[in-house]
Parts: sequence; C-alpha cells; structure tokens
Amino acid sequence: MAIKYKVGFISDVHGNLSALETVKADLKFQGIEMCYCLGDVIGYGPDPRACLDEVREIADVIIMGNHEAAIHQLDLLKYMNNLALVSRELALKQLTTDDLDFIEKLPEIDIIEIEGLNIALAHGSFRPPHALNYVENFGYAQADLDKMAASDLAITACFIGHMHIPKIYGRRSNQNVTSFDPEELIFQKDCLYSINVGSVGQPRDSDNRAAYGILQIETDQIRYYLRRLNYDYQATQKKIIAAGLPALLAQRLKDAF
Ligand SMILES: [Fe+2]
Repeated sequence: MAIKYKVGFISDVHGNLSALETVKADLKFQGIEMCYCLGDVIGYGPDPRACLDEVREIADVIIMGNHEAAIHQLDLLKYMNNLALVSRELALKQLTTDDLDFIEKLPEIDIIEIEGLNIALAHGSFRPPHALNYVENFGYAQADLDKMAASDLAITACFIGHMHIPKIYGRRSNQNVTSFDPEELIFQKDCLYSINVGSVGQPRDSDNRAAYGILQIETDQIRYYLRRLNYDYQATQKKIIAAGLPALLAQRLKDAF
C-alpha cells in the first residue's frame, strides 16, 4: 500500500485557539495537502477572530456553521442558548467588517471531488437547512443517506460536524443503515456514508482531546481515520474566564460534555 495524498476535515473550532494551533501543527505533521472546514469556527471560545484568521489560512473551503449563520440571520437567535448568545456578543466585539462580510458569504454546502468521488461538505447535515439539522441517530442518518442517494450529484459521502461527537453512518443500496467505527473506515464500493469528524475546540464525547478527520488516498483504496490530540485546554479555560464568559464553557473543555 502506498499513500498518494491526504485530505483533512476540521470542524467546530469554536474560538479555541490552543486546540486549533495543535491541530494545525498536526495537519502539517500528517502531510495534509488540502483541508476543509465544516463550520462553527466561532462561538463559545475566547478567540473567534484569531481562529477565523487561522482557519482562513489553513482551509481551502469553509462551510457556514450555525454560529456563523446566527451572526447575520437574527431569526436564528431563538434557537441559541445563553452560552451561545453571550459568546456571539464577544465575537461581534472582535470581528472586523471584513470578517463579518466573509462570514455572510460562507456556503452552507459544497461538493468536492476526490478520486472521482463526489464528497459533500456541510455543517450539520446533507438535508437543508444544512447548518441546523443534526445527524444524531439512525433515523436522521437514514434521511440524510436517502437524500444523498436521490441527488443527481452521485454523492458518496457527506462530511459533517455540529454534534461535536465523531460518528459514522453508512449503508449499501437497499440495506439498513449501519454505524461504523468513527475512528477508522475503509471506503467500500456502492456504499454511502455520513461522517462526523468531531470537534477541534469543544469535544462532547467525554474525550477532551481535539478531534479532526483525515481521508487518506492510497493506491488501491480510500481510508478515513480520526485524529485525537491532547492540547493545552487549561490555556483556553483561563482565557474564557478572563473574557468574562460563563465558567461552564471552561468546565466543558475539561470534561468534554
Ligand atoms: Fe458547533
């Protein structure tokens, strides 16, 4: 087996610069050639502006997350909890006019081609509204995979974040939806996948390490795997407290809930 190249998928950085810098170093270490960001660069964390700057450097495409959408779409504020609302205020203080314009123009979905396969990028789901829907159980996975199968675009996989929990669902045509090991998957022919790459800056699966996904193109197959990285979460906790954000946001980085 020889590796041809690797593609990175990062999501839900959530203003956590310490986590992002750790992931950025790992992207380089892993030899990632292209990187895609699945949204929620801002929100919750203390460094939305610095994270947006970094992600704009790192990522070839940035998808709009619900936290980006809520910057301009005020009708979304009713869906946000207090933690999201107070961190939105912090983001509005930090972001420049150029940042705000950039955020407003982010796509809700994109399709990229890798080795002849069409791969969708979305924040929450392949079903619209892409930035808001979750793929949180078999029923929603079924709905997403149905939508992918019905698309004229012959989508093989949709990469998402939003849940902050790594998860893979997939199915062969006319078979039931199955969940797969979220840490490693070899792509099978005629199979559709919904792949949640977890969260860089606010994991919620009881594992506080930063998460992101890699698609490794090999000579004879395509392998997906998840990276988990220890980072200095205490540095981000201190910044959260110093910024006057709720202490729960700091606690969350340690306990990953
Ligand atoms: Fe998020």
